[in-house]
Amino acid sequence: MTIPSETIMLGIETSCDETAAAVVTAGRRILSNVVFSQIEEHKAFGGVVPEIAARAHLERIGGITRAALDDAGVELSELSGIAATGGPGLIGGVMVGVMTAKALALASGVPFIPVNHLEGHALTARLTHGVDFPYLLLLVSGGHCQLLAVDGVGTYRRLGTTMDDAVGEAFDKTAKLLDLGFPGGPALERAAMNGDPARFALPSPMLGKPGCDFSFSGLKTAVRRRLEVEGTLDEQARADLAAAFQNAVTRSLVDRSAHAMEVFSADRAANRPFVVAGGVAANQTIRAALSELAAHNGMTFHAPPLALCTDNGAMIAWAGLEHLESVKQERLDTLGFAPRPRWPLDPGV
Ligand code: KG4
Ligand code: ZN
Repeated sequence: MTIPSETIMLGIETSCDETAAAVVTAGRRILSNVVFSQIEEHKAFGGVVPEIAARAHLERIGGITRAALDDAGVELSELSGIAATGGPGLIGGVMVGVMTAKALALASGVPFIPVNHLEGHALTARLTHGVDFPYLLLLVSGGHCQLLAVDGVGTYRRLGTTMDDAVGEAFDKTAKLLDLGFPGGPALERAAMNGDPARFALPSPMLGKPGCDFSFSGLKTAVRRRLEVEGTLDEQARADLAAAFQNAVTRSLVDRSAHAMEVFSADRAANRPFVVAGGVAANQTIRAALSELAAHNGMTFHAPPLALCTDNGAMIAWAGLEHLESVKQERLDTLGFAPRPRWPLDPGV
């Protein structure tokens, strides 16, 4: 990054069910990171309800932003920019974050920087570990499952993606089937800790198939069928099925990542880093398996700390810092930016 290390950015994230704001410096210091999770609001429905999420963001965004500035001990006038998630995500929530950031930017006379949420996840390892370009990225979240070659800010080449469900979505749906609670990913991981992954045989999707694409809907269906066959399951059996599911997903992620490493390493210098990001990167079994794969292939492995895997404002502030120079130099009219519910990272797709 070419800007002075004391440059300060506020980042706002509202694309799903976390209302979050953070203050970060270009010198990779996180001065504050406030995350309000709407879990309680959505629990009764077993999933995120977009209308409820938008209202909850609206109610909280002012207080959360104030708290982020106060925690950091920073005034609006000290900021060099204000970044907010501009998409992809639930449109109501994205609008709340974008409008808030635009208003604050206008009032304080600093640039507003719309950030692609996926790019926030994709660049987090540069904030947390100072990882240099290029690197191979496995992005695993509630809405996405992609393998990307990251050659620079804004230079992302998709090597593989899911043909149906995102991996976090598969965790959430399977947790619901197994009645493990909400949010599903962490609940399933907890249940799997007490389970025997060998008790139930489940297919590992795409294993050994050419390419780097993913598919998880068949696995979810296999869990459903198994439940139909078994009837009511006791707690141990549900833990065993959760462990079998997690094991099948992990093997699939490892297999697909191994293919991507071949493609990625073929036209880049050896020993480039392998980075995992997104909410599912919080899963310890998956992290351990990917770390082992990277070591086996002579790549360094980086996974953000758990709190920066799931949605947060720090990753948005950081991506904003990475874009600050180009926004200023190109004199972009960012105040005219319209929220983008769909916004692929790789412009070629
Ligand atoms: O990145 P994120 O916070 O939001 C999106 O951008 O989607 O990811 C949320 C997803 C959810 O599907 C959640 O169940 C999953 O990440 N997740 C996990 C774990 N923690 C969060 N999945 C598996 N194991 C976990 N420990
Ligand atoms: Zn996310």
